[in-house]
Amino acid sequence: MEPILKTENLWKIYRSSQVEVSALQGVNFEVYPGEFVAVMGPSGCGKSTLLYVIGGLTQPTRGRVLVDGNDLAALSDAERTRLRRHKIGFVFQRFNLLPTLTARGNIAIAQHIHGNGFDPHRFAVITRMLGLTERLQHRPAELSGGEQQRVALARAVIHEPKLLLADEPTGNLDTRNSEIVLGMLRQLNRELGQTIVMITHNPEAAAYASRVVHMRDGVIVDGIPAD
Ligand SMILES: Nc1ncnc2c1ncn2[C@@H]1O[C@H](COP(=O)(O)OP(=O)(O)OP(=O)(O)O)[C@@H](O)[C@H]1O
Ligand SMILES: [Mg+2]
Repeated sequence: MEPILKTENLWKIYRSSQVEVSALQGVNFEVYPGEFVAVMGPSGCGKSTLLYVIGGLTQPTRGRVLVDGNDLAALSDAERTRLRRHKIGFVFQRFNLLPTLTARGNIAIAQHIHGNGFDPHRFAVITRMLGLTERLQHRPAELSGGEQQRVALARAVIHEPKLLLADEPTGNLDTRNSEIVLGMLRQLNRELGQTIVMITHNPEAAAYASRVVHMRDGVIVDGIPAD
């Protein structure tokens, strides 16, 4: 089976006028279809940078990223944007919902942006699985934090991305809502086969994944717990 994601000797060096930070120092990482991978590691070890490079939001300094067999560096900016929109979904710690739209509007506009048109069946399956059926007419300000993150999650997967990238998706949630959102991620993975890469600090969150990798100082130290 081909990996859905493969990175080869990935480096990211941030250069500002005074300092250089080597956030990624040769990351080799593969994710296969149907996996739910948690990436753990101490603050500043490069987790978010890895996610942004994988997602095509930031260019690596060196090395390659292959998403579904496509070398991101070989694509034009427009092609990379198209690939990102079609094949990748993002969830972040902040929910980033549009405040003037209802939950339904926030999810539907994502389907529109991804160019897939509105698919009522997919919309019904996802909103039911995420327990949002009764909340679709609410605006973000009228939803709890947990509900807002579930809307963000629906928005991220509505277009059937090959890969869902989540950066601390429960970082702003209390324990109970974290458990609900993590349970839903696991359900998306198990029932719909959604491939997921999730960054987390929290071992309890990582336990929901099917595989855990550890990062330290810009590299993956697979299997070796990072404290
Ligand atoms: N845009 C940037 N410019 C310069 N340095 C950056 C930039 N973004 C991140 N860094 C640095 O790169 C390193 C890795 O940052 P990154 O955000 O990837 O870490 P992280 O593992 O996600 O940390 P956290 O768990 O705190 O979110 C850090 O030393 C950070 O200060
Ligand atoms: Mg981070």
